[in-house]
Amino acid sequence: MTSSRCKHATLVVTVIRKTLPQPNPTMSTKRYIARFFSGLYWFLIQGRTSMKQSFEDVYGINDVGPTFRGIYRDVFGDEYAEEIDHCGFTTKTDLASIVQAVGLSPDERLADFACGRGGNGLYVARTLNAELRGLDLSEAAIQIATRRISEFEMEGRAVFQAGDIRALPFKDREFDAAMCVDSLYMIPDKQAVLREVARVLKPGKPFVILTWEFDIPFAVKDYRPILDECGFDVQEYREIDGWLERQRGIFEKILANKDALVREMGKRAAAVWINVSKTELPKIEKMRRVFIVATTKEA
Ligand SMILES: C[S@@+](CC[C@H](N)C(=O)[O-])C[C@H]1O[C@@H](n2cnc3c(N)ncnc32)[C@H](O)[C@@H]1O
Repeated sequence: MTSSRCKHATLVVTVIRKTLPQPNPTMSTKRYIARFFSGLYWFLIQGRTSMKQSFEDVYGINDVGPTFRGIYRDVFGDEYAEEIDHCGFTTKTDLASIVQAVGLSPDERLADFACGRGGNGLYVARTLNAELRGLDLSEAAIQIATRRISEFEMEGRAVFQAGDIRALPFKDREFDAAMCVDSLYMIPDKQAVLREVARVLKPGKPFVILTWEFDIPFAVKDYRPILDECGFDVQEYREIDGWLERQRGIFEKILANKDALVREMGKRAAAVWINVSKTELPKIEKMRRVFIVATTKEA
């Protein structure tokens, strides 16, 4: 076997071992298959052995560069919340809706799960004068988010740590509100995520989710049944105004500016955005970006 074939075979085995770990009798076949396809996506489409690797590449650069920022400025217009430096699609209106939905009193504690570079959670916590804990799988994201605490004048009131939302390193009923922006759709075990978030929230408290539903096989078409199954009462559930035009615009401009993005971001980080744009554009009509507020069921 040539060395490149050997490398490929090793990668395939690595992916299979990561996507199909030891048989887990508590995991349903549907969830098992969803996890398998998620692994295949990151391997075949993104060319990475895991989702985590892709995000380490995205966050491992110092600056996204003028072309990427220009694309967001053009497409989002007045809705672009530049200060947030998000890794998704939050608009100023989305942020205002999150602030209203978490509705914390000063000094209460907010969690931003899958926080990325931390801007969304820092903005919401600063606006409400709340305490913040942020968590993300990517260590590079956590380093950036931690550096940004002072930018948002949240010193002593915010802490970021690396971890997996499916096994949260927090005590039961530790938080007064939680948020998860543009991330839940990509995590294979959604029930595990929701049960963990329900565990760490106090009863009757809100979890605000911005995510996508997909009308395609093995994807979630409606989060309401699984929220109910995992201990939440859904209070608000709506498609976000104008998301489709914005997101289509971003993807099209990313593909039209590939060379500049590679030059400014480097090949690996740019490849993640380019691949996401290529794979999501053709199915964008089968997606819905939704804003969800669900409160933990009272015991
Ligand atoms: C599209 S980004 C959104 C980040 C951030 N919420 C924002 O809007 O900028 C998705 C994030 O989910 C994180 N993520 C994916 N799976 C995760 C997991 N199991 N636990 C914690 N974070 C996860 C990734 O590292 C990435 O930062």
